[in-house]
Amino acid sequence: MSYDLVVKGGTIITAADQYTADIAVAKGRIVAIGENIPSSGSKTLNAKGLNVLPGGIDVHTHLDMPFMGATTADDFVSGTTAAVCGGTTSIVDFAIQKRGSTLRAALDEWHEKAEGKSAVDYAFHMIVVDLPEKAVPEMDKIVDEGVPSFKLFMAYPGIFQSDDQTIFRALMRTKENGGMICMHAENGGVIDVLVKKALAEGKIEPKYHALTRPMSAEAEATRRAIALAEMAGVPLYIVHLSAGDAMDEVRRARERGLPVSAETCPQYLYLSYEDYERPGFEGAKFVMSPPLRPKGNEERLWRGLSQNWLQVVSTDHCSFCMKAHGGKIGKELGKKDFSKIPNGAPGIETRMMLLWDGVVEGRITPQRFVEITSTTPAKLFGLYPRKGAIMPGADADLVVMDPKKKTKLSHKLLHMKVDYNPYEGRVVNCAIQDVLVRGEQMVKGGRFVGKTTHGRFLRRAPRMN
Ligand code: URP
Ligand code: ZN
Ligand code: ZN
Repeated sequence: MSYDLVVKGGTIITAADQYTADIAVAKGRIVAIGENIPSSGSKTLNAKGLNVLPGGIDVHTHLDMPFMGATTADDFVSGTTAAVCGGTTSIVDFAIQKRGSTLRAALDEWHEKAEGKSAVDYAFHMIVVDLPEKAVPEMDKIVDEGVPSFKLFMAYPGIFQSDDQTIFRALMRTKENGGMICMHAENGGVIDVLVKKALAEGKIEPKYHALTRPMSAEAEATRRAIALAEMAGVPLYIVHLSAGDAMDEVRRARERGLPVSAETCPQYLYLSYEDYERPGFEGAKFVMSPPLRPKGNEERLWRGLSQNWLQVVSTDHCSFCMKAHGGKIGKELGKKDFSKIPNGAPGIETRMMLLWDGVVEGRITPQRFVEITSTTPAKLFGLYPRKGAIMPGADADLVVMDPKKKTKLSHKLLHMKVDYNPYEGRVVNCAIQDVLVRGEQMVKGGRFVGKTTHGRFLRRAPRMN
């Protein structure tokens, strides 16, 4: 029997196991796993001495996104090229409803942005900005279109923020249609007052972005979001959780048996408030919401990841250059006013490599690494077992990682279209060697060899529970 490809002799790591075997691939899927799979007549990929992991799934990206007067530096072509070079084979990006417009129009717009322009498979969440009572049934149509998750904001007044009525309406509807609400949990009203006060006092530097968005504003909103979801009787997913105090709210909810889950991001595990105090305007590189927290907070998040108080690590990849470039406004927009710095940072390419350091440092097991970067996101967002698994029938989305090599992170070497990297100069303890997306080799020996038209839209299933 000949296959399209046999991945030979790698150490297969899944959310449950670790063992050495061959993987046979045909028509983009895994068709067999075993010892000494005959490979004559098939292409082979030698993975001896290397780790073979399910492709990473990043369920929080912003590509080609207009935000705060700027547009992200990465579009689908550059962002997904970077993703696959970093071992991520599927993403879930956010379509954004325009105020006064329909969810359908936003979905059409995001299909247009992504179709034929993605190296990896992609799906969408829908950011809901405007949801009067009469528009609520439209959520069902979006679920039917394979987009069964909606992001709502408790922050960014006047831009994205929803009031409690809107939030509660949306939560209740997900009980009917099997969707899930993904919540940006920060108290936007409190933050707005603190920002205005800081600016009135002449406090304009990037560090005031963090000082006006306290941990307690995140913890309070997280608690309120959980309470609203509990009242509606539906699951809830907290996005980009940064603060240990907010995590404790999630932990307590889970201990009470509530179906609440949360993601954190590498920036909250590896960077800290102290980065805002770098000289000059450098702190702007780290302006994102929620902000980086004081040193020590990351220890709480790592513990939360190992104890399953946090379930997912995504990136919130939202890249803006520091300087205006190619007609795109940069973070320097906020040089005289921290509140005008476009919020967000790049990370789509570095997530898997950074997180592997958590394995090397003994903070998480290799199985937990796979669980939080691939398997659980696939399960929570309706992609499992097609994605997030190494098993017969699953898509052949595979990452061959060399755990003996090191990689230096630098914006000059990475594929994201940004003029800086938050981890510039950091050396991580692995290299992404080869990557397959549905059996197609996209990365070979660390180099992108794929096509940026290979990615397909992933129609996701609504949740079962
Ligand atoms: O600063 C951030 N996180 N930018 C992207 C928008 C969001 O809230 O996810
Ligand atoms: Zn957000
Ligand atoms: Zn985001």
